[in-house]
This record gives sequence, C-alpha cells and structure tokens, in this order.
Amino acid sequence: MVAAEFVVVANRLPVDRILTPDGEEIWRTSPGGLVAALEPMMRSVDGAWVGWAGQADLQIEPFEADGIRLLPVTLSEQEIQDYYEGFSNDTIWPLYHDVIAPPQYHREWWEAYVEVNRRFAEAAADAVAEGGTVWVHDYQLQLVPEMVRGLRPDVTIGYFHHIPFPSHGLYAQLPWRDQVLRGLLGADVIGFQRAQDAANFLAAAKRRLSHETKASSITLPDGRMPLVKAFPISIDTTPYRELAQRPDIRARALEIREGLGNPKHILLGVDRLDYTKGIRHRIKAYGELLDQGRISVEDVAFIQVASPSRERVDAYMHLRDEVELAIGRINGDHDTLGHTAIRYLHQGFPREEMVAMYLAADVMLVTALRDGMNLVAKEYVATRADNRGVLVLSEFTGAADELRQALRINPHDIEGVKDAIVGAIEMPRAEQSKRMRALRKRVLENDVDAWSQSFLRALEQAGRTRHRRH
Ligand code: G6P
Repeated sequence: MVAAEFVVVANRLPVDRILTPDGEEIWRTSPGGLVAALEPMMRSVDGAWVGWAGQADLQIEPFEADGIRLLPVTLSEQEIQDYYEGFSNDTIWPLYHDVIAPPQYHREWWEAYVEVNRRFAEAAADAVAEGGTVWVHDYQLQLVPEMVRGLRPDVTIGYFHHIPFPSHGLYAQLPWRDQVLRGLLGADVIGFQRAQDAANFLAAAKRRLSHETKASSITLPDGRMPLVKAFPISIDTTPYRELAQRPDIRARALEIREGLGNPKHILLGVDRLDYTKGIRHRIKAYGELLDQGRISVEDVAFIQVASPSRERVDAYMHLRDEVELAIGRINGDHDTLGHTAIRYLHQGFPREEMVAMYLAADVMLVTALRDGMNLVAKEYVATRADNRGVLVLSEFTGAADELRQALRINPHDIEGVKDAIVGAIEMPRAEQSKRMRALRKRVLENDVDAWSQSFLRALEQAGRTRHRRH
C-alpha cells in the first residue's frame, strides 16, 4: 500500500455500505455533519480516510470512492454495542451534552473503547507516510492521538472535537477522565467548536493533570505545547446556493407549500432524532400556540424532519416514543380534513429535497438544548438568496456564537420560544432582509473551506515547530 501524506481518522467512513432488500450493495453518504464538512477538502489532497463502514463484521479491503482512498476498520457486533452505542453514545455523548440524558458508566464499555481506539490508531499509523499528518475526528476516538504518537512519533497529529466539551464539574464524573485527557493531549493541535469548549478543556487539563496552561496552549512534562483553540466548523455553501437557484427545486418548494394546503407560514425543524436537539420543546411551544388560538393550522404549518439515529440506544428509543406521542396528540386535537398541524417525517432526505424544504420554510426552528455547532442553521441561511425567512436559534448551539442576527431563544423557556415563533411569523420583510443579509455574509465568508484551511494552517505551523525541536 502506498503511504498517504495525509490521513483522516473518523468513526465513520464518508460512505456507509447498504444492502438493498434485493441483496444489491450500494454505498451511501454517511449521516452527520462531519462527512459533509471534510469531503471537499479530502478530494484535494493525497489522502486516505480510516473509518468504519457502518455494519458489523464487514471485512473490506481498502478501496477508492469519489477520489478518496478509504481504509475500512472492522467492528464486531459486540464492539458496536460496547464501543459505539455504549461508551461513545451512552456515556460520552450525554455527559458532554450537559447530561441532558443520564450517562451510563460501564467498565466493559470503556475497555471496548480502548481496544477499538487502538485499532483505529494502528490503521492510521500503518497508512501515514514518514513525517506526514494524521487528523483525528470526534469523541468516538479521543484516545487515538496519544496512541498514534506512541506508534509514530515522526507524524504531526491534529484532533478536532465536533461536539461540546463540558465544564469541569460535569467532566469530573467520568471514571476515566484522566486517561481521556491524556489521549487528547497526544495531538499537536486540539480544536474545538467554541471558545468555551477550549476553555473547559484547558481547565480540566490544569485541574486534573496539573499541567501549566496559557490562553490557548498547555505545557506538557515532555516539553510539547499543544495548541488548544476554537475553530468553528461550517458547511460547503456552494451546493446549497446552487440547488437553491435550480428551477426544478424552486418548483418543488412551491409544491411542498401546496401539499400543506397553502398555509401563510411554514415552520421547519430538521434534526437527527436526538434528545440534544430540543425537538420536544419546539413541539410543545407550537402545540401551546395552537391551544391558545394564537395561531391556527390553516395559517401556520410545521414540518419536522427527524432522521433516524442510534436507534438501539435506550434514550433514543424513549425520545422517539415521546416525540411521536406528543405529535399524535397535537395533530389529533388540531388537524382538519384539509390541514395537518405537524407534518412529521422520520426519514432522511437527499440534499435536493432538503433544499426544497429550506426554500419552502418561512421560519427555521433550531431549539437544541446543547449542540456543538448545528450545521442545519447554516444550511438554511445558505439557501436564502432572496434574504427572506427567519432563523430562530438556540443560544446553546455553537452556531449562536456566530449567527448573531438570528432570533435567539432559550429552549427551556417555552413562553420565550412561543413569542419567538410569533415574532418570526410577524416580522416585517425589511427586518427579515436586514437580518438574513448579515447572516448570509457570515456563513458565505466562513465556509467549510475557510475552516479546514485555518485548522490545517495551525497544524502545519505545529509540525514546523516540532521538527525544529527534534
Ligand atoms: C454528530 C457527531 C458525528 C456523528 C454524527 C452522526 O454530528 O459529531 O461524529 O457521525 O453525529 O451520528 P452517528 O452516530 O450516526 O455517526
């Protein structure tokens, strides 16, 4: 195998292997923002991508897809349960999202996490060229930086954390808190979404490991000084802008409105079905507005796209039940034969259809209780070329640090969310346009290319410093 100058390590490959009901194998873009964020950059470098193909026990040889060299890592059914569904998504995910759901701590899950992280680290260490670069992504692989450093001291290592990093008071719950910090500190650059996440990490390293910290770096006992900084991620805006101009997609947006009985206003929510997204809070606010007669189903329709996610984890199963019960009740109370209150879609959609929905939506509702960034907010903004439409945005998202002209809400304050929905519906065109213009400027200037370039510049700089010291 030819060694790669640049190796991305992420839990998922950019494509998932899907078997159709008639046994045909297809590869489909994997869910989540990470893939969308990295794909454009990966096409332009001599790179390889280490990741999991999304199914148990798949032994696949390295292959190329869309110009990216893919190096599949095999996970057994037990490892999917313990490393992926268990430690990653039932321990770290809830703990790092402010314990919205209670994190579960199990030693077997931790052991599987260590073992699987080692497998990813070995695959990266095998693939990377002498003096090359390894870029590790996200909370599923926090031990990989230190492990790669042990195996390949010659390479430069970056780590980017796509989700929040909690305050020390919460982080301290983790029985393996020191090991995880040491794992991350193996990187030369440790990137976070928000300044607050970076500050939380620095505080944890200082308190737990007694390392000396500065505003954006840590001095380690071996003299290394990893950079710790916020690099807020974004989207590739081009396909969103282009699709939003396509006549067939604009026609589809009108068709969506007609399909809802031509309401005056369409509200839209788009999320993975995850308890961090505040879907219940949003539904509650909308339901109360209907109950109180402040809006009617004829005038205000609500489309909620909730794509299936982590469906075997208990907290996700409960959430689905709760969301569907709440929607069923609201629709039962308020639907008419011609109008549905909440059009609920428990499915993922191709980008074309998503853009048609963004174009149809007068108000985008992002009510996350905690979110690393929230790329959906940026996607909506990128499609609004006519500067119409209103973004209602939770202050607990990373996006809120940047998208200052959105209508900011605290999703726990249901009265506040209701007022924001009514305010959005009633907002005069001139104000919509003023806000959207500023939002668009921000999103279009700070796209995913700007993000990866600034991370890679920091990594290059760190690489040069390291080589000088050796
Ligand atoms: C978030 C995480 C990603 C993850 C995605 C989808 O965006 O930051 O690392 O890939 O959710 O979740 P899943 O568990 O399906 O990979």
